Amino acid sequence: MNLANKTIWITGASSGIGKALAIACSKQGARIVLSSRNTEALEQVKSSLTSSQQHLIVPLDLAQPEQLNELVVNAMSQIGRVDVLVNNGGIGQRGFACETQLDVQRKVMEVNYFGAIAMTQALLPFMKQQGQGTIATVASVAGLIGGKSMAGYSASKHAIIGYMDCLRAEETINGIKVLNICPGFVQTQISVNAFRGDGSKFDEMASSIANGIAVEDCADQIVTALEKDKAQVIIGKGISYWAPTVYRFFPAIFRRLAAAKNYRE
Ligand SMILES: NC(=O)c1ccc[n+]([C@@H]2O[C@H](COP(=O)([O-])OP(=O)(O)OC[C@H]3O[C@@H](n4cnc5c(N)ncnc54)[C@H](OP(=O)(O)O)[C@@H]3O)[C@@H](O)[C@H]2O)c1
Repeated sequence: MNLANKTIWITGASSGIGKALAIACSKQGARIVLSSRNTEALEQVKSSLTSSQQHLIVPLDLAQPEQLNELVVNAMSQIGRVDVLVNNGGIGQRGFACETQLDVQRKVMEVNYFGAIAMTQALLPFMKQQGQGTIATVASVAGLIGGKSMAGYSASKHAIIGYMDCLRAEETINGIKVLNICPGFVQTQISVNAFRGDGSKFDEMASSIANGIAVEDCADQIVTALEKDKAQVIIGKGISYWAPTVYRFFPAIFRRLAAAKNYRE
């Protein structure tokens, strides 16, 4: 798919991967619909995009999935057409499973899973009417494997990958493409903004994230995956890139390493 003149709706566009992706897609000539909760930050991102006048801001809260259908339907009367939805907005979770409160697990699932599927289900009828569209989701390597200190997060990412694989099987016949994006560690605010087990903000830059790939590199690889109409892409370096391969071909070794690794962030 050539991104020029396409309309790309990106959730979580105020920061990190979503912001870098908005910038990268606008350079390819795409019109961007920017969404997240922080309108002020979205305005700043919008003004930094190529051809900044043509892009739109639609504030929304993925933690309120039952409100998203009406919001999308209303916004579509202004937007007109969406070629690509990027379900990118998300929240991290740091802490052992047994220390993480149930309401925190639920909040992570609400944003990362229900928020994403609510956006998808709201936009699908428009895409099916168009006879084409792409649903791209920034899941995670944590949606393909499990490790320490991220059970709720990993569960939400496994769930969204499972949902999207089923959606692809159902909607290919209607011209809908589904791309699962699985980054490893990327230098963003994800750990800073993550929940601790008690629901407070983690507020620390995890060393794994600080040592991850540059956010611009991640965005460029997402653009390439969209251009090549990929179904799934793993993005990263080192162990965060290779872990799903090790898990697939040497599952016993992977499980031993995952259990031995001594970290809590
Ligand atoms: N960084 C990594 O290493 C990494 C690795 C794998 C996957 N990911 C995934 O990449 C995606 C983007 O994260 P990031 O790394 O760029 O982190 P980030 O810098 O913290 O950005 C998160 C984005 O999600 C938005 N968001 C959070 N809660 C929201 C809500 N309730 N409603 C609407 N928007 C919400 C935030 O916007 P507002 O605060 O303005 O609402 C922000 O734009 C997430 O899905 C994350 O799980 C990240």
